[in-house]
Amino acid sequence: MESKRDKDRPTILIVEDNEITRDTLEAILGRTYRVIKAEDGETALEIVKNTEVNLVLLDIMLPGIDGLEVLRIIKDQHEDIEVIIITVVKEVDTAVKAIKLGAYDYITKEFDYDLVLNLVARALEKQRDKRKLLYLRSEMKQLVQTDFVLGTSEKMKEIYSLVQTIAKIPATVLITGESGTGKELIARMIYQQMGDPSIPFVTVNLPSIPPDLVESTLFGHEKGAFTGATQQHIGKFELAHKGILFLDEIAELRYDLQAKLLRALQSGEIERIGGSKIICVDIRFIAATNRDLKEAVRGGTFREDLYFRLNVIPIHLPPLRERTEDIPALVDFFIRKYSHKFGKKIEGLASSALEVLTRYPWPGNIRELENLIERLVAVSRREVISIEDIPLEYYLSSFDTVSQDKGENLLKNACMAFERNFILKIMDKVKWNRKKGAEVLGIPLSTLKFRMKQLNIPMPLKGKFDPDEE
Ligand SMILES: Nc1ncnc2c1ncn2[C@@H]1O[C@H](COP(=O)(O)OP(=O)(O)OP(=O)(O)O)[C@@H](O)[C@H]1O
Ligand SMILES: [Mg+2]
Repeated sequence: MESKRDKDRPTILIVEDNEITRDTLEAILGRTYRVIKAEDGETALEIVKNTEVNLVLLDIMLPGIDGLEVLRIIKDQHEDIEVIIITVVKEVDTAVKAIKLGAYDYITKEFDYDLVLNLVARALEKQRDKRKLLYLRSEMKQLVQTDFVLGTSEKMKEIYSLVQTIAKIPATVLITGESGTGKELIARMIYQQMGDPSIPFVTVNLPSIPPDLVESTLFGHEKGAFTGATQQHIGKFELAHKGILFLDEIAELRYDLQAKLLRALQSGEIERIGGSKIICVDIRFIAATNRDLKEAVRGGTFREDLYFRLNVIPIHLPPLRERTEDIPALVDFFIRKYSHKFGKKIEGLASSALEVLTRYPWPGNIRELENLIERLVAVSRREVISIEDIPLEYYLSSFDTVSQDKGENLLKNACMAFERNFILKIMDKVKWNRKKGAEVLGIPLSTLKFRMKQLNIPMPLKGKFDPDEE
């Protein structure tokens, strides 16, 4: 069985058909690394496909697929795995060929123990650096795909122009706003506006990191710094050097680590856990939170000095219900996005449906709107999404926002909410034919029309349902 300790060690795959060489290499490396062995190229490729391997020691003369071919396939499919070639002295020419194909180096079969250990350590270090680079590159890809809808509200226009201004200066930014308002998107936009895709953008999402790993995730650790630290780890601070470090959900940072973060922010210096070297970092910080940090400071869970250090340029994203004029543009954008994704031809939302959406309070903000549109586009069979496609809870809550009064209006509003809900259900049943609706409800048609108007119940688009009485 594989021990937990084994899992944390770098994995070396030894591909060698000669048993003695294979076992000797295992004896040298097995004490420091996790070692897997294969006798031929086919087995080796299978292992590389299914297991996390950091380094391959590869014999050139193998039965079956030849070593150079194995090397070519590994390099083609796993850019970040390093390969060291094992060869006999008279095949050194082949080794040179292998290095041209991307091998890190070669050892001859008459190897020296220290030399092997040394070479392996250096190859693993290169491999770590390469993974770091690939990680940054994948973050970069995400950034390029950032889509942003400006909308028409004054608030968003102000925020957009602020983003353009602050992209040019290296000050710390604190982005606040309810969940789903687009805080992360704004952070990425600041980065984009900085206009240099070669600098890193590194995200730390604090709630998603196990509490006892937060410190090491931020600052890194040296090998042996604590139980389980079997190899050196580079922290996000170092990864973000000369770029942006985005600290998402900053209010979730443990109180004792807040002091350490503040020190790092102020001095531009960090130390890996268990390390003795001071590392200088040049970083621009962007922090985000959906909590009220001032309140957290008052409540004693967030350090005031850190709050001031982060809050140099505040950007507050208003909730969607305070910028309902942006909803049509957002809806339009998400309809296009998901029509494309699902390969559908959906033109838009009927105006009555849009009206319902502009009155809904959107507690989950833009994310909730996006999810709803995704769902609507996925299930819609018509080119225009109509009011009957909108789930009932969106009508009901849109009414609740109007009736948040207390005291004398409470009962009256509760009755109205019930009446509205009831009329909606009946109207849905009779396919929005008001004549039939009035009959079922046992009221005159004129009363129904009047109540619908009073209770803000819009009629669906004409032509999509049974003809009404007009
Ligand atoms: N102006 C916008 N235009 C287009 N899409 C947007 C806009 N604002 C937000 N979104 C989308 O809404 C979703 C939520 O945005 P984001 O993750 O940035 O919010 P957040 O404030 O960080 O939320 P949370 O607090 O839940 O982490 C994302 O899918 C994002 O792409
Ligand atoms: Mg977020």
